[in-house]
Amino acid sequence: MELPKIIGHRGAAAHAPENTLASLRKAAALGVAWVEFDVMLTQDRVPVMHHDYDLTRTTGFAQAVAQTPYHHLSALDAGRWFHGDFEGEAIPTLGQVFLLLAELGLGANLEIKPAPGRERETAEAVVVELKGHWPAQLPPPLISSFREPCLEVAQALAPEIARGHLFEAVPADWQERVSRLDCYSVHAREDLLDGETVAELRNAGYRTLAYTVNDPARAVLLDGWGIDAIITDDIPAIAKALSCG
Ligand code: G3P
Ligand code: MG
Repeated sequence: MELPKIIGHRGAAAHAPENTLASLRKAAALGVAWVEFDVMLTQDRVPVMHHDYDLTRTTGFAQAVAQTPYHHLSALDAGRWFHGDFEGEAIPTLGQVFLLLAELGLGANLEIKPAPGRERETAEAVVVELKGHWPAQLPPPLISSFREPCLEVAQALAPEIARGHLFEAVPADWQERVSRLDCYSVHAREDLLDGETVAELRNAGYRTLAYTVNDPARAVLLDGWGIDAIITDDIPAIAKALSCG
């Protein structure tokens, strides 16, 4: 699988309300080939694209996603908080996301973001959706998670789908953890990475991704260290810095 150098974070989070269909459209319009987004389950187990466990920041409704049935969650406005132009944007289901990715020709890194205690069912729901409905014309997807139980479920149910291990700082025992889960890639917090670590990961045969890089100078540095992909909110700034957009 070929990873692009730049991946839009939560779609194009600097330019549109994160994790909405508008954000995916914006990412495509800004020229990226791939996006990253977060997936979690509603109370009634519908996989939806959302980052926070709680709906307050994105919708003003102070309740957890995991406690909200889909019929209620789908009626919330997840665009207005960002800008009035996006009023009416909803929190989409994973199925709706796949249809739009197909229309836009966008590849994706799906981050499984389970509510605590729902690791296995969240991963199962994502894998079922990917196996049943991932658009065949798109590049194969990349699953990632901070939560190892999610990666374990994905490995057991769909070993053929590439897995990435998300870390904040890459821990001392990274290789053992990543190799046990037969991961394709390691995704680390950009400000906690250094050149030596990137080289160590790459020499061990793993693709390396850094999140969330919004500073052009930092992107150039990471690129020089050999990072495979940069996940960013600000696609044009990073594309300009790396002369690839
Ligand atoms: O997948 C990279 C990045 O999105 C991980 O952190 O909190 O932005 O989902 P977060
Ligand atoms: Mg994420």
